[in-house]
Order: sequence, then structure tokens, then C-alpha cells
Amino acid sequence: MYLPKERLRHPLPSTQPPSEQEARASRLFSPLTLPSGMTLQSRSWVPAMVPWRATEDGLVTEQVLAWYERFARGKPGAIVIEATGIREIASGPLLRIGDDRFIAGLRELTQTVARASEGETRLFIQLIDFLRIRKRPDRARYLTSFLRLRAEHREKLCQLLAQPELMNAPETSLREVLLTLSDEQLDLVLSAREATALNFGERELVSDEDLPHVAELPSVLPGLFARAAGRAVQAGFHGVELHYAHAYTMASFLSATNQRKDGYGSTLEGRKRLPLEVFRAVRAAVPREFTVGARFLSDEVIAGGHHASDATAFALAFAREGMDFLSLSTGGKFDDAKQPKVGEAAYPYTGPSGFECMPPALSDARGPYGRQLETQGAIRRAVRAAGFTTPVVVAGGIASFEIAEGALERGDADLVASARQSLADPDWWLKLRLGRGDEIRRCVYSNYCEGLDQKHRSVTCKLWDRSELDQPNAQLTDGGRRRLLAPDWR
Ligand SMILES: Cc1cc2nc3c(=O)[nH]c(=O)nc-3n(C[C@H](O)[C@H](O)[C@H](O)COP(=O)(O)O)c2cc1C
Ligand code: SF4
Repeated sequence: MYLPKERLRHPLPSTQPPSEQEARASRLFSPLTLPSGMTLQSRSWVPAMVPWRATEDGLVTEQVLAWYERFARGKPGAIVIEATGIREIASGPLLRIGDDRFIAGLRELTQTVARASEGETRLFIQLIDFLRIRKRPDRARYLTSFLRLRAEHREKLCQLLAQPELMNAPETSLREVLLTLSDEQLDLVLSAREATALNFGERELVSDEDLPHVAELPSVLPGLFARAAGRAVQAGFHGVELHYAHAYTMASFLSATNQRKDGYGSTLEGRKRLPLEVFRAVRAAVPREFTVGARFLSDEVIAGGHHASDATAFALAFAREGMDFLSLSTGGKFDDAKQPKVGEAAYPYTGPSGFECMPPALSDARGPYGRQLETQGAIRRAVRAAGFTTPVVVAGGIASFEIAEGALERGDADLVASARQSLADPDWWLKLRLGRGDEIRRCVYSNYCEGLDQKHRSVTCKLWDRSELDQPNAQLTDGGRRRLLAPDWR
């Protein structure tokens, strides 16, 4: 996890939770009707969080059902199911929706949430597409097997080592020479892209138009997203959230770093073209009362990335097009991720952009609490000033009733998303609503959960995963050392 220089530890913000009567009169617990006509019972929102509980084939498991059942018992206005893959690509224990065989399990999931929330929670599923990323290779294997030798390598080697005979040397000899170079020398021979592949693992970019499957993304993605949304309708979801945020394909189209030359990049118009086409295809594939929104970045927080002004342009375009909600996130990019160990893949939440995405308690002077609200609020106000009523969801360190209510009161947001606090205590929304906020188990923003996510291990919270292990119905992992679900609220 990246930490800023200051490393100031921020105590939890003080809170005086509302009485039941105050909660009933609050903005947070007032209903909101989306443009789709669907009403959320409250403005509380559990955003997408990958828990690593699906099968290796992306199917819903008992553990997936139990995980979301646990959140549903807290009866938030909405839950967004984790990033769920829309393609037939193996991606480990992440949920998938790229084929009809996934519908039955997902239907069980929607029924489970409906039962546990007594019909109160609206359930959306986040639809994701991602490009290929390889693990960081062993240096010798990269140079002997993966690197595609080009004439330029040959020329640079000749110059660098003053050995003109290398111009005609066989490939195997050239590779042997490459193996003898120091890291500094290698940097002079490899392109920036090749050096990144060697040091971080090869990663496809949306601007790799020379790769046929990347070139054709604009023609295949609208159909893939639309068919996935159709399956979400069949499975009984109330809506879908198009994942246009963080390190994945659609965010890379929106990114200021998108240099595609085919009309789907380079300019602001070009960058938002595919996200709009995907939305139109999805909208056309589902009934009007089915909710369709998108999650995208208020700021990419990377060198050369977009800031709030571009995000405002996206928000206006999405609102004009008729999206049912705009969910704002921040950062979470591969571009500034830490170098992974050999044999491991880069993780997009390890650099400064990851810090802004999931701000921890150890922080700079601003601290983690409601850290993105000013920027996100400005985007919402721009949407309103342009005459659109599209609801805006905010996220990032929403750690107390006061922060949530303040965001709604000031007009920073229409809906407040709280990921880690909901993970620390899935009942926290219900406790607030019932005037029992003093019983909330408060997230300490340690990012232990994010560390588990990074290692692709079952996500749990450090505040409860070692407690009450002997409870008769406790589901355990790691040889019985960690519980998988928050203990019951009694
Ligand atoms: C374990 C974990 C998994 C996450 N998975 C996703 C995801 O699948 N999709 C997504 O858009 N955001 C994901 N996030 C980001 C959260 O939705 C949220 O934006 C972020 O944690 C900031 O909110 P918070 O401060 O309330 O935790 C994840 C966060 C955590 C902690
Ligand atoms: S492990 Fe628990 S306390 Fe720590 S950040 Fe995650 S949810 Fe919060």
C-alpha cells in the first residue's frame, strides 16, 4: 500500500449517532426514485467489493450467497455485486456473467438478497471487462523467450557494445548477449513498453490497435455488455452498474492516456464514444424500468490522467444520454502500481492512485474521511447546473452518519456509498436507522481487507475475522483461523 510522506494517523471522526426518530427524519434514510422509476428506500449504498468467493469458473457459491446475505441483513438502499466479468475468460474466483450458464446461480443470489433484506434492498451487478495482464516475468525467461526481437534491438546492441558483427548474429546469440547486460544497459536497448513488460509484467492497452482483438473492442464490447445486462434481467437484478472506473477496459477508453487513432481515443469526444455506445446498447437490451448506471473516475490521479473537468464532461454526457445514476470513484490505476514480485501480477491499488481510491487512516493532512467529497460534489453541482436530475453516488471514507448526512445536505451527493465501513459492520445502516448507532463496529481504515484482495485471498475484516470462531454456524477459512462472515448482531 502506498503511503504519503506525512504518514499522519487520523483518529476516527467523532460521531453522535442519531436517535431512531432523528434517523427517520434524516436525508440518509429518505427514499429516492431513480430516472428508471425504481425507488430506493434510503440513500445508503454498498458499492462493489470483490470478496474472492466464486468458483474458479466464476460461478456463484454458497460462500458468495452467504457474503451478500450478510450485507442484505443491514438493509441498505442498494447493494452493488462485485465486478463481474462479461466475457468467457477464466479469471479465478471472480463472478462471471458472460454466458447463460451463470444465470441460475445469479438468480439464487438475487433471491437470497431479497429474502434477507425483506425486499428493501435494490440489487445491482457491476459489469466489467478487462484486458490481459501478465505476471512479472523472470528476467532470463523474458529475454530468452518472451521478448520479440526487432531490428532496433540489434542496432542498439551493436552501438552499445561496439560490436558490429552482432548485426548478422543469430537470434540465440543476441539473446545470450542481452542476458549479460546490466539493468542500465538493458534500459537503453528495450523500448519503454518492453521495459515495463520486463519489470512489471506485460499489460495490454486499449491503444494497442495492432492487436486485432484490441482493435475490435469498439465493435464487440457493446454487444458483450448488452448480453450480460440481458442475463442480469433474467437473473432478477434491479439494475446494472457499468464498470467504467479504475484500471479496466472502459476506464482506459475514458482515460486521458487513451491514444487510439480510430475515433475512440485521443480527444475527449473520442474517449467517451465507446462508453456511450456501450450504454446505448445496454439500454436497448433491457426494459426501461431496469436501472442502468455507470461507475467512473472523478480523477485518475496519475501522470497524464484526467481530472475533474473531464469527469464533469463525462457526467454531463452520461446524464444527457439517460443514465439512471452516476457513481463516482477515484484512481485505482495500473499506471502507478508498485512493482510486483517476480511471478506476481501488478495490483492497481498500490500506488498514489490506489491511495486515493481506498484512503487509509495513515494519511496526509487531509485524512481519509470524505476525502473525495469536494471534487465529487462539484461534479454533481455541474450536472444539476446543466439541468439534469441524474442521481450521483459518492464514495471514499464515508465513516459516520454525520459525513453521509453532511454530503447529502450540502448537495455533494444523492446517494452515499460506504465500502469498508459496510464490510467492518454490515449491520451499520440498520443500526443507524434503529437509533442503535452506538453499537456500530467502526472501520479503522487499516486496509487489511484490501491487502487480502491484493493476494486474491478471501476478503474479511481484521475487526471480526478472529472473533467468535467457535460459534456453531461460523464459516471458517485458513485452517479455521479466520471467519468468513461478520458475527451476527444480537
Ligand atoms: C476488498 C475491496 C474490493 C473492492 N472491489 C471493488 C470492485 O469490485 N469494484 C469497484 O468498483 N470497486 C471496488 N472496491 C472499491 C470500493 O467500492 C470503494 O470505492 C472504495 O473502497 C472506497 O470506499 P470506502 O472508503 O467506503 O471503502 C473495492 C474495495 C475493497 C476494500
Ligand atoms: S480490514 Fe476492516 S477495519 Fe480494516 S479497512 Fe478493512 S473493513 Fe476497515
